[in-house]
Amino acid sequence: MTEPGAWTAAEIAEQPDVLARLLAGAGEIREVAEIVERRRPRFVLLAARGTSDHAALYAKYVAEVCAALPAGLASPSTLTVYGARPDLSDVLFVAVSQSGSSPDLVDSTAAARECGALTIAVSNAPDSPLAAAAEFSADVRAGVERAVAATKTYTAELLALYLLLGGPSAPERAAALPDLAAGTLARSDPDAVATRLVAASRLVVTARGFSHATAREAALKLMETSYLSAHAYSGADLLHGPLAMVDADVPVVAIASPGRGGAAMMPVVQRLREIDAEVITVGSEPAADLRIEADGVPEELLPILEILPLQRVAARLAGLRGHDPDRPRGLAKVTRTW
Ligand code: F6R
Repeated sequence: MTEPGAWTAAEIAEQPDVLARLLAGAGEIREVAEIVERRRPRFVLLAARGTSDHAALYAKYVAEVCAALPAGLASPSTLTVYGARPDLSDVLFVAVSQSGSSPDLVDSTAAARECGALTIAVSNAPDSPLAAAAEFSADVRAGVERAVAATKTYTAELLALYLLLGGPSAPERAAALPDLAAGTLARSDPDAVATRLVAASRLVVTARGFSHATAREAALKLMETSYLSAHAYSGADLLHGPLAMVDADVPVVAIASPGRGGAAMMPVVQRLREIDAEVITVGSEPAADLRIEADGVPEELLPILEILPLQRVAARLAGLRGHDPDRPRGLAKVTRTW
């Protein structure tokens, strides 16, 4: 038995190397991307669960903003539970999964292929049933992940999806990521923020644009390792109602990195301050509570950096609350859903 949190800490620390490895093999994913570009799909449908679903949400923004392709998240149950067979010609169906083993993802990918979609599996398991069900597959090359709460497979999925959907210059645009990830991890000290959250039982995480995925993923890490009730909203949705539940007992983590999404978060942070919310900020500004190193990468890649200090906060908070982030209660590494 390893020390509590040892796997999580090691896997968080490994991320700069994982990103570098994926970039070194970017040509393989770009070959699949070129096939997609030649087939000219009209729509991208993304299927995934849990952490991988947050990577899929990120990919939706990449497809729409970087590739000008409308995109949406699939509801696998329409294909599995309800047996629907929609016309998916001219659709690119991308299934994202660490394990490539969840039956609903495998079955919905097989059904999408049968319905005419161009299917691609993005996973950390190139020999998985999911990779076999899809016409093409992209290996995220994260290596074995032992902690139940995903960390390195998440950032590897984000980068793999960017390489797939971000256009021919994607590898070049992402070249600085491994160094920036190492710098962000070196500078991030989770202690102060984890200590601020130690007594919280509810929490909100908010962001806009590409970083919406960061908000969702950070909330999931806090839920599954610290058993907090954590809600994630886009900054816009937060203002449309959930803001009313924010009070002194509900801290808000606001992700506001440089770029258009971060700028769109400014009025949200201001509103939160007006109501005296306990706000914890993530960004590249010196005043941010959790600082990322973001010089030299375009906005669409910031989610790969923003999640790093939040993973560390979640792991530290779990430890402070007496939980083992490597083995959250009642969870297994592979979740089978139908
Ligand atoms: C959370 C986590 C899970 C998985 C989910 C999907 O940290 O790891 O949410 O992402 O069970 O599993 P895969 O990606 O294997 O299909």
